[in-house]
Amino acid sequence: MSNKLEGKVAIVSGSGRGIGREIALKLAAEGAAVVVNDLDDTVADAVTREIVAGGGRAVACCGNVAAPEFAARFIDTALSHYGRLDIIVNNAGYTWDNVIQKMSDAQWDDIMAVHVTAPFRILRAAADHFRSAAKEEAAQGLEVFRKVVNISSVSGVMGNAGQANYSAAKSAINGLTKALAKEWGRYKINVNSVAFGVIKTRLTEASAGDDATINIAGQEIKVGVNQQLMQNLETLIPMGRAGTPTEAAGAVYLFCIPESNYISGQVVVCGGGRP
Ligand SMILES: NC(=O)c1ccc[n+]([C@@H]2O[C@H](COP(=O)([O-])OP(=O)(O)OC[C@H]3O[C@@H](n4cnc5c(N)ncnc54)[C@H](O)[C@@H]3O)[C@@H](O)[C@H]2O)c1
Repeated sequence: MSNKLEGKVAIVSGSGRGIGREIALKLAAEGAAVVVNDLDDTVADAVTREIVAGGGRAVACCGNVAAPEFAARFIDTALSHYGRLDIIVNNAGYTWDNVIQKMSDAQWDDIMAVHVTAPFRILRAAADHFRSAAKEEAAQGLEVFRKVVNISSVSGVMGNAGQANYSAAKSAINGLTKALAKEWGRYKINVNSVAFGVIKTRLTEASAGDDATINIAGQEIKVGVNQQLMQNLETLIPMGRAGTPTEAAGAVYLFCIPESNYISGQVVVCGGGRP
């Protein structure tokens, strides 16, 4: 490990499972203290314990990112435990697919809430700390870079049939990324999006015919992809297969290290060569 993130403090939403879990483990392995979040306490606590058992620093902040009071608690957890905040990864989310004529208002609103409104509130809640820290550092003649990585999807870049809600939300987060990169450049905050292609997690691994569901705040939501479609899709990926959560976390890590200090406002696709 490089220890490139020694002394840094990161918050990663939805980091109890899948890609977020790998992001939390990677940032911690590179020296960052991590605030682990998930809807499900059990998985968030398990990741936190795993980091601490490996000699890292981590604390859990469980809860639904879509709850209006969550953002302040998330930021406060970082500040009260570690006294600073350097990296925000807005990763929590899920899909709730349907063709538009069958899509309910709840399907639209809930997907917007988790993928757009929650990141907006988290970033807004961080603004005071980010601005005052940057002003103090500037007064001392220092440039200290902070990092925001918003998780998007190729659905938000290219659109995807059956995902009008999700495509719109993942496109909106890219707009938020670009606006904040302009607003926060003066504070040396890099704001970028990583748009994943197909990554093997519970959202994509289940077969659509299996009636697989995930539980989101008490509601069973159908997930899974037609496996024949998935195989066809994989043949269209230049690298010949779906990505792993570890590979996905690697793309996020690139935007958290000093080497990316002069990159901001970008949407980078992590999709095995498929745009
Ligand atoms: N897997 C893919 O192919 C893929 C592709 C493009 C984008 N993404 C995005 O990557 C992110 C992570 O997805 P994943 O594939 O790792 O899914 P996952 O289901 O494996 O993990 C997501 C985690 O987020 C948590 N979560 C969901 N809603 C939450 C909420 N409201 N509050 C707090 N925690 C919440 C879940 O409990 C879960 O542990 C999501 O934003 C997803 O849209 C995934």
